[in-house]
Amino acid sequence: MNTKQQPLTIDIQDKVAVVTGANRGIGRSIAETFLQAGAKKVYLAVRQLESAQPLVAQYGDRVQAVQVDVADHAAIQRLAQQTPDAQVVVNNAGVLKTADPTSPDAEAALAFEFNINTVGLLRMAQAYQPILAAQDEAAFVQLNSVASIKNFAPFSTYSASKAAAYSLTQGLKDSWAEQGIQVLSVHPGPIATDMAKQAGFDDGDPVDVVATGIVQALKTGQFHLFPDSMAKQIEAAYHDYAENVIEAPVVE
Ligand SMILES: NC(=O)c1ccc[n+]([C@@H]2O[C@H](COP(=O)([O-])OP(=O)(O)OC[C@H]3O[C@@H](n4cnc5c(N)ncnc54)[C@H](OP(=O)(O)O)[C@@H]3O)[C@@H](O)[C@H]2O)c1
Repeated sequence: MNTKQQPLTIDIQDKVAVVTGANRGIGRSIAETFLQAGAKKVYLAVRQLESAQPLVAQYGDRVQAVQVDVADHAAIQRLAQQTPDAQVVVNNAGVLKTADPTSPDAEAALAFEFNINTVGLLRMAQAYQPILAAQDEAAFVQLNSVASIKNFAPFSTYSASKAAAYSLTQGLKDSWAEQGIQVLSVHPGPIATDMAKQAGFDDGDPVDVVATGIVQALKTGQFHLFPDSMAKQIEAAYHDYAENVIEAPVVE
């Protein structure tokens, strides 16, 4: 039986982190915010090594670019082998297609998004479980979305992939509690990045609200993070369900 315990917490200061999709958007902001908050080292896990060059030029040996495609199981295994000292892993890389459920390309869009956003999470979690479980303090951060909780028809298949990823994130939280691995589920609304533009949002909150929210949430040990203005409105309605159902201790 898993009775209510003190939450696991972690301070990013002096920690070694891995961030996927660290070359642009929210991932880049997370990498930079971790460094500003005193992280010892951040591995920039990117598809194209040269895309991390501006951060390498700026931060020198506090960062290291490593290649990964989260669609590729073997590439994730190689990433984990190259980052055996990781204490905080951020699964940020994600993709979005605009596909209404009845559009002709919905099936292809769902398969594509599911492979990156959902199965990609599984691949990352499986590859890093032994590394994180061996650390004294460890955390796994998953970039979910408000679309994990509410399906938005113009990007319905993306919402479905993020709902499935949120479900798996809950499973990781319960499965890893005994191993001392903190799990954080992040649920942004529109954030000003290329992806938000693709989804039809011309404005959004700045990327650093997500990154600074993650640093803070890791310190306090909360499971859900609703970082921006729109996400906080959804959180206000969702809070009781989240606390009493999703975060409630599992009783066997
Ligand atoms: N922006 C928002 O409004 C918003 C809201 C809620 C949740 N999110 C979530 O937050 C995360 C980051 O979003 P973002 O807005 O920063 O997106 P973005 O600007 O589109 O950047 C996506 C990042 O993911 C990387 N990526 C895509 N496919 C990959 C793959 N197969 N393997 C490795 N890396 C891959 C991209 O690398 P390349 O540069 O090589 O393409 C890029 O670094 C995503 O999981 C997204 O679903 C975003």
